[in-house]
Amino acid sequence: MENNIENLPYELVPSRMDVVRIAQVTDSHIFSDPEGCLLGLNTRESFEAVCERVLKEEWRPDFLLATGDLAQDSSPEAYKYLADYFMEMSIPSFWVAGNHDNPDTMEMYLSNGIVMAAKHLLVGKWQIILLDSSVARKVHGHLSDSQLSFLEKALARHTDRHTLVVLHHQPTDVGSTWLDGIGLKNREEFSEVIDKHKHVRGVLWGHVHQEFHEVINGVEWIASPSSCVQFTPGSVDFSADKKAPGYRYLNLFADGRIETVVHRIDNIEFTVDYSIKGY
Ligand SMILES: [Fe+2]
Repeated sequence: MENNIENLPYELVPSRMDVVRIAQVTDSHIFSDPEGCLLGLNTRESFEAVCERVLKEEWRPDFLLATGDLAQDSSPEAYKYLADYFMEMSIPSFWVAGNHDNPDTMEMYLSNGIVMAAKHLLVGKWQIILLDSSVARKVHGHLSDSQLSFLEKALARHTDRHTLVVLHHQPTDVGSTWLDGIGLKNREEFSEVIDKHKHVRGVLWGHVHQEFHEVINGVEWIASPSSCVQFTPGSVDFSADKKAPGYRYLNLFADGRIETVVHRIDNIEFTVDYSIKGY
């Protein structure tokens, strides 16, 4: 789907809201088969354990952001399972596509009721812009001209709103050689737009299956753990980490501040086959 700024943005709640609460659940890698495992870990089980932890938050999130690689096999069954699960959680949910996803199939199955395909949200004093960095049949990411133009137009139109930009692929190196080779290829073009607009407060992504948080030129650049297998920070080659599955909780304040924390599940046994050398 092409985003079009001329389409009405999705307004989530009144602009008087002084804090926007978000749970980012990412890289769930769900298979069509309920028994499907990534590196020996059942991805549905860990996804559900992560979502159950989200529901225990003292402050229920206003919405969920699912930031790509929602399915491992881009199957309708995987997306249908996710849509049903989000519906059952009863939290509005938005998504972007990752390299394992099929955006058209997602659009078909993750666009119903409180599970929404909207890519431009106006919420509280904020706007959230969701970009599609996926490239068909490629692992790396790229933002098409239309995605960059969508970003540019949304930023130019809403200069009075703090902005969080969301995509799947990392638009900056996270310090892991193998992963940084499969990040966002046209990151310079992306950064040029971000640098130009001083109301961008944060950039948020998935893909790297690990925690990352740096402030660059006053903007928070943030990545988060996967709801299934983790990758080892700083590794040269593929390496699975022993850390538990998790998610990120974010508070976006009306003054533009972002407060955020990663939570990991600690109440279930999980098995990862660390002998596997690829993913
Ligand atoms: Fe992933």
